Amino acid sequence: MGKKNKKQTQFLKIKQESAEKFLKFLKTRLPNETFLNRGIKVIHDGAYVLFPLVNDIGKIKELIGEISNKLNFDIVSTIGIAEENYKYRSIEEALEDKLPQNILELVPKSYDIVGKIAIVEFDQINTVDDKNLLHYKKKVAKALVSVNKSVETVYEKKSEVKGKHRLKELKVIYGDDNPETIHKENDCLFKLDVKKTYFTPRLVFERKRISSNIFKKQETIVDMFAGVGPFSIQIAKNNEVNIYAFDVNPSAYKYLIENIEINQMKGEVIAYNMDVNELLNPEHKLGNSLKHTIDRIIMNLPEQSINFLDVACFLMKKPTGILHFYQFCEKPNPIKKGIENLNTNLKDCGWHIEEILNSKVVKPFSPKSDLIVIDLKLRFLHRSYLCGS
Ligand SMILES: C[S@@+](CC[C@H](N)C(=O)[O-])C[C@H]1O[C@@H](n2cnc3c(N)ncnc32)[C@H](O)[C@@H]1O
Repeated sequence: MGKKNKKQTQFLKIKQESAEKFLKFLKTRLPNETFLNRGIKVIHDGAYVLFPLVNDIGKIKELIGEISNKLNFDIVSTIGIAEENYKYRSIEEALEDKLPQNILELVPKSYDIVGKIAIVEFDQINTVDDKNLLHYKKKVAKALVSVNKSVETVYEKKSEVKGKHRLKELKVIYGDDNPETIHKENDCLFKLDVKKTYFTPRLVFERKRISSNIFKKQETIVDMFAGVGPFSIQIAKNNEVNIYAFDVNPSAYKYLIENIEINQMKGEVIAYNMDVNELLNPEHKLGNSLKHTIDRIIMNLPEQSINFLDVACFLMKKPTGILHFYQFCEKPNPIKKGIENLNTNLKDCGWHIEEILNSKVVKPFSPKSDLIVIDLKLRFLHRSYLCGS
């Protein structure tokens, strides 16, 4: 057996007849891997059983405190043998003993999985001055792959999402630098390139929520900032609707077209590679044909959506329509601020909020702001010269 499969481990040594009682105690403290190291084999030694403990002094002290007046036991240190084919449950567990403690504490707790790709952000580890930083990051990537068997490539997120196409810089730290993948979400498939298109798996529940609305038969919908099509395709999958999906990024458009082809849908999604502002041009054929014909509009460009309300008001069917509006708003009271912001800008376009159907924080965005969504019923008030309504 290789040295790799053996490691010095702390064990709880207990008489065989008390082992059952100890296991019963663990059951009351689920998940019991908080105390036991499932990656190491239990040892049977004559009249004793040795249970391997996690490599965490704090946890071991907590365990001792909880059982010392109930059971007789010893804590001993000896060589433990790794369980073959053990599947780690978390990156922290997979990394135990493989990183210095100060680095282990800074390992990111969350990461994104898009198809066979994982994207991880090392914001805390990057603050450490250590020449082995890349080596540590590679170990984290390897641990991530050992926990998520479908992952083949791990990218480090090197920048915030930026630019008109909302892209982030990515650097490969594990596997081949192949940014194209197919992601499955809510029974739909999305082919995409994580470097050339925007996509976040974190909106999975939001897309489920929006696509679970009750849509009128042949309802007309505009997905203003469609990306590779997650909102449009999930809505059209089970609803007989007509969706006009726009994106200015040629790569997003290319995958949007492919995704329309690979997903079977009851409704129709028509893709356009253009800046939605062009629709306002009085000479624009599509703009003229869509003007005031749309029942529902989705605006998922949170940092900029407020600047496109004139386009939404130009497209929205008179006298009423539905808007799903995403924006980043400052804390505290992000929703109140979001509604005020919307109200002011809508009035300038001659529309007003008839009813707020729903409003909520979708996820925290930064220490100071949240991503919020407001679902609204809008009503046309009067002609406005500001927005050419
Ligand atoms: C935040 S992403 C959202 C993509 C998609 N809705 C999703 O959930 O994955 C915003 C998208 O809007 C596109 N975009 C930005 N400005 C645009 C504009 N003026 N006209 C059309 N698309 C635009 C970007 O290329 C990007 O794909």
